[in-house]
Amino acid sequence: MRRLILPVSVFGTVCGCAVLLKNRVTGGPCPSKAKIIGKTVVITGANAGIGKETARELAKRGGRIIMGCRDMEKCEAAAREIRGSTLNPHVYAKHIDLASVKSIRSFAEKINREEKRVDVLINNAAVMRCPAGKTEDGFDTQFGVNYLGHFLLTNLLLDKLKDSAPSRVINLSSVVHILGEIDFTDLNWDRKKFDTKKAYCQSKLAIILFTRELARRLEGTGVTVNALHPGVVATDLGRHTGMHQSQLSSTVLSPFFYLLIKSPELGAQPSVYLTVAEELERVTGCYYDVMTEKEPAPQALDQEVAVRLWDISASMVSLETTVSVPASSEAARTVKHNLPAAADNMTTMTTS
Ligand SMILES: NC(=O)c1ccc[n+]([C@@H]2O[C@H](COP(=O)([O-])OP(=O)(O)OC[C@H]3O[C@@H](n4cnc5c(N)ncnc54)[C@H](OP(=O)(O)O)[C@@H]3O)[C@@H](O)[C@H]2O)c1
Repeated sequence: MRRLILPVSVFGTVCGCAVLLKNRVTGGPCPSKAKIIGKTVVITGANAGIGKETARELAKRGGRIIMGCRDMEKCEAAAREIRGSTLNPHVYAKHIDLASVKSIRSFAEKINREEKRVDVLINNAAVMRCPAGKTEDGFDTQFGVNYLGHFLLTNLLLDKLKDSAPSRVINLSSVVHILGEIDFTDLNWDRKKFDTKKAYCQSKLAIILFTRELARRLEGTGVTVNALHPGVVATDLGRHTGMHQSQLSSTVLSPFFYLLIKSPELGAQPSVYLTVAEELERVTGCYYDVMTEKEPAPQALDQEVAVRLWDISASMVSLETTVSVPASSEAARTVKHNLPAAADNMTTMTTS
């Protein structure tokens, strides 16, 4: 028995250190315990991965949760499961296909008609590194679903968000935005050779440019907008990548992945943090790497590009209400950060 004490204590120490290291590397749980009773949260892509766990955690905290998904069978099943596990009956499944302007408009119209308020909009849905393809309206799938669809949805819900202020928009981007470039000559990969990695990076860069530009336009409204990278999370996002099916990654490299890759529950924590943290109520126009505010890549800070992207996006989705605000205006000089008090099965093995 005494012979076992040393190996058992070494094993215990190694396990304890691994858990601590994992928490350190992956960011750990949301530090805020705030409840959101009486608040309505709309979240896209909520039937799986980070979105589903975000919906679950926010349901636990007492919110009214509207899960927007393209597959109603999966969405109803996830909503049912979350209602059961949280004992919160106010979790609802609604249809939205972000690859269809018509579907996005119909979803927004229903929310605007049926919901008294929208306190938080979490633009979470995405596809990563899928084969070349176009949305119903002819946009590149990743640009259309990940960015343009959320651009349109957010704009269509803005009045409701403003009426519910203080309210928050949370956009899921990715650290790979640093590799992104906005190619205004061919946003939809119609002319150049399709590169699925670059298409994903472009879409995630576009989300940060959109976040900053929207924050600027919403100054003084009490609606904040921030973007985040959730970390590297074990979800099905990588289903189109080689690593996803690799034997090497599922066997030899799995101990390293254990340390570096988070569960969807942990992956949801940054979205939960940006939703509930009291100290973020007036923080807007920022980018969070997990739960730490960071400056995004230089190309995400280019306001001329952000304004140009906004205008082109509005015309692509026929958003008539959009008025361009010149980058050189007075408001443009006071873009971000804290608003004044008077006035926010196998896993993904790639960096995504
Ligand atoms: N996992 C990571 O390591 C990681 C890293 C950085 C950033 N992110 C970001 O985190 C967010 C969540 O990703 P995840 O890892 O949770 O991925 P996921 O498990 O693949 O979930 C993506 C969700 O988006 C939905 N979706 C895809 N296309 C859609 C469409 N046309 N209309 C409506 N919904 C659609 C999916 O629905 P279906 O189930 O019907 O496909 C699914 O519910 C994404 O924005 C992703 O870019 C993730």
